Amino acid sequence: MAEVVLGIETSCDETSAAVLVGERGRPELAGLVILSQDVHRVFGGVVPELASRAHLAALPAVVDRALAEAGLSWSAVDAVAVTQGPGLVGALLVGVMFAKGLAYAGDRALIGVHHMEGHLFAPLVEDPDLAPPFVALLVSGGHTLLLDVPAWGRYRLLGATRDDAAGEAFDKVATLLGLGYPGGPAIERLAQAGDPARFSFPRPMRDEGYEFSFSGLKTAVLHAVRASADLERDRPHLARAFQDAVLDVLVTKLERAVRATGYPTAVLGGGVASSRTLAALAAQRLSGLARVAVARPRLNVDNAAMIARAGWFRLAQGERSDWTLDARADLPLPGLEPVPHPSPAPNSESP
Ligand code: KG4
Ligand code: ZN
Repeated sequence: MAEVVLGIETSCDETSAAVLVGERGRPELAGLVILSQDVHRVFGGVVPELASRAHLAALPAVVDRALAEAGLSWSAVDAVAVTQGPGLVGALLVGVMFAKGLAYAGDRALIGVHHMEGHLFAPLVEDPDLAPPFVALLVSGGHTLLLDVPAWGRYRLLGATRDDAAGEAFDKVATLLGLGYPGGPAIERLAQAGDPARFSFPRPMRDEGYEFSFSGLKTAVLHAVRASADLERDRPHLARAFQDAVLDVLVTKLERAVRATGYPTAVLGGGVASSRTLAALAAQRLSGLARVAVARPRLNVDNAAMIARAGWFRLAQGERSDWTLDARADLPLPGLEPVPHPSPAPNSESP
């Protein structure tokens, strides 16, 4: 088993590298660099071509810095773990080609990692005792996944979004409110000054099953913005009502899955899980039911530590990628299994 794993993440607009070092068989984070590409701010969203170029310019230095932070040179690295997908294909390609070049030239092991499996492993970086079975809610800019995880590497998809991802809804509503990109942190900040009773938005699909839908909620905010006579005054209240609606839907479904499975733990992951408001609401609503495991915000936004950790797991299983490893804009989550227990009936929250 590899004792030093270099992780590389370039799926969107963060250029990141991390080093995990095995201490008594347990991987510890020895170096982590996350370079956020500021260039997209002026465009109000990620411009794929610019993202690829920025990764290309920054990645070698980001990798060097992560190794320097760990006090190691490249020769100490046993394996390279890299995000293979899903994500922006041009951005992913930069990381995959760089990782392949390093691994090939140095005759090191290579492992391609699924970006959302990386998000799932994020809490394990700081909390090595975290163990399945658990329910996981993975909420990012591109995905909203509710998973039943009976064991690391085995995933049963309970529900996903039918339209916008949760983070995407935050970003689109932030644009409607005239806030910058990324929208999630701006909305969370603004919502603190918002009156929760001033506006009320629908909770799409909250009371049934495990699937999500956020596009109608976004439209409801659009109508409220258009109807507002004083957007300056209403902005924090709109942000608050929107955030309350999204988080209520997310946590209600997480709670439903925890009750249906009876698992003692719920994991939050993905960029939206860096919302302290989400973590607090989940902890409050699951109190007495399940422990909520969530990494600190730096490990929930896109970063290479989570990729290295998921790669570490795959390498320990004896898996390796070969030189045909390619970037994939769409990549199915590895280890997906059919769901054994039927979805609970509507309103079956009570035990
Ligand atoms: O996982 P991530 O960094 O990138 C993707 O894989 O997409 O997630 C980014 C998403 C963005 O949509 C951003 O608005 C959202 O995470 N996000 C938040 C917060 N911080 C980041 N959403 C709500 N509240 C936050 N505090
Ligand atoms: Zn992500």
